Amino acid sequence: MIVIIKPDPDAVTRYAYDFVRAKLTAKPNLVLGLPTGSTPQRLYKALAEGCRKGEVDFSRVHTFNLDEYIGLAPDHPQSYFHFMRVNLFDHVNLPPTNIHFLSGLPDDVETHCEDYERQIRDLGGIDLQILGIGRDGHIGFNEPTSSLCSRTRDKTLTRDTIEDNRRFFENEDEVPRWALTMGVGTILAARDLLVLATGRAKAEAIAAMVEGPLTAMCTASALQMHPRARVVCDEAAAAKLDHDEYYRWMQENDFRMRGVLEAGRSRKPKK
Ligand code: GLP
Repeated sequence: MIVIIKPDPDAVTRYAYDFVRAKLTAKPNLVLGLPTGSTPQRLYKALAEGCRKGEVDFSRVHTFNLDEYIGLAPDHPQSYFHFMRVNLFDHVNLPPTNIHFLSGLPDDVETHCEDYERQIRDLGGIDLQILGIGRDGHIGFNEPTSSLCSRTRDKTLTRDTIEDNRRFFENEDEVPRWALTMGVGTILAARDLLVLATGRAKAEAIAAMVEGPLTAMCTASALQMHPRARVVCDEAAAAKLDHDEYYRWMQENDFRMRGVLEAGRSRKPKK
């Protein structure tokens, strides 16, 4: 896993924006996996701004969101679909037909989830999956004990997650207890993963994800199995990492940046 530590949330956003922009430039019909939550909000703002300035183009992009609450209609103010509209979809040139979303009110849960997986497959798989992380190390809504091979399905939320979500609802009874979510296996099938984390509240989860054991008790730890997983976090979220010196050293010593290959190639052979 590549760990990038930035001084603050703005620097995390700049890094993530440049990363997404480079992917969009390299593949204009990118299949992009998206998270909700407060963490990616700054990135979505930057992407909306970038789209206005003509730096990024969503006209051929397809998006798949990670999850949705069961029981909420798409126009419910706390639905993830509504969140995505307000934060991103309404501000970029993404064709509405290219937006793929799990329904909070499916006719049949299993068929709906299988169909979501099929839609991902039909578009050639997810190129870049952006992720946030829950305080207990969950990704999407893959709560502790989720199978690390799971595919899109329904999950019961933990009391901690319900408590974290409480702030968005009038009272606790309104907070959904269930969600549909891409599985850990679905997430691991994406070609590139980019995890964003900011703030001290995420420090334990980030340490468990990067340096802890591979365990269903922290579903983000499954990302250790992914060949192209990258986490970009601020100093506060990196606070509990034991090997942070190595991650910083790696960043400072990227051989590509230092032209090591070019120098080696241009070196004259000794006579
Ligand atoms: C929810 C979402 C996750 C998100 C997490 C953290 O559980 N399902 O995808 O990563 O919240 O959200 P925040 O960024 O607000 O801390």
